[in-house]
Amino acid sequence: MHSKLLVANWKSHKTISEATQWLEDFNSAVVTWPKEVVAVLCPPMPFLASLHHDLQQFPKLLDQLQLGVQDISPFPLGSYTGAVSAQQVLDFGAKYAVVGHSERRKYFRETNHDVALKVDQALEAGLTPIICLDEPYFLSQLTALNPDSLSKCVIAYEPLEAIGTGDSQPVNEVVSAVTQIRHHFGQAPVIYGGSVDLGNIQDYLEVTDGVLVGGASLEAGEFAQLITSVK
Ligand code: PGA
Repeated sequence: MHSKLLVANWKSHKTISEATQWLEDFNSAVVTWPKEVVAVLCPPMPFLASLHHDLQQFPKLLDQLQLGVQDISPFPLGSYTGAVSAQQVLDFGAKYAVVGHSERRKYFRETNHDVALKVDQALEAGLTPIICLDEPYFLSQLTALNPDSLSKCVIAYEPLEAIGTGDSQPVNEVVSAVTQIRHHFGQAPVIYGGSVDLGNIQDYLEVTDGVLVGGASLEAGEFAQLITSVK
């Protein structure tokens, strides 16, 4: 079996004490880690350094739980007030950067061009971009990206109506979208996001390379169960 990627996206939830507690609870809850699973925790940016530090106390998690950021600057280091560049998060253990999440595209008006710049910045710094594409726009969003860089990225297919609604997309529709994405850009792993939970994760893992989990990652025990459920 190929390895599966389980990405936890906390979005703008939690305080630092809740985040610290999550890691402790998660460490206790994960008894055995399936060898073929890699998890990526994407906390709010201000918690990254502290969680990176705390992770060192949990040797069981060190190799398997990677850190990522939910967004990254489209610019390099420099005079870009308020922005956090890809290079700046590397020292805090980040290995992945989510880019182009539908909430960024919707609430922060991010364009395909912004997303392409972020992908370039992430790759240049050595981060793996997790590029979110949302149905119904996924093919135009995908073709706006540089095909040469896509082999080093993860593609997250996320139907808009499935995000945070409890109404996950039927597996046959996911298969059709994933097939189209693979047809255009066969090299990149493709993961699914949108109301993934314990009841449906297996179905999605059978047809994709992993899942992007929002709501079901907020509670440490629930996310640990998702991981240990992977067969
Ligand atoms: P959800 O979020 O699992 O809460 O639907 C997924 C996402 O927004 O990436």
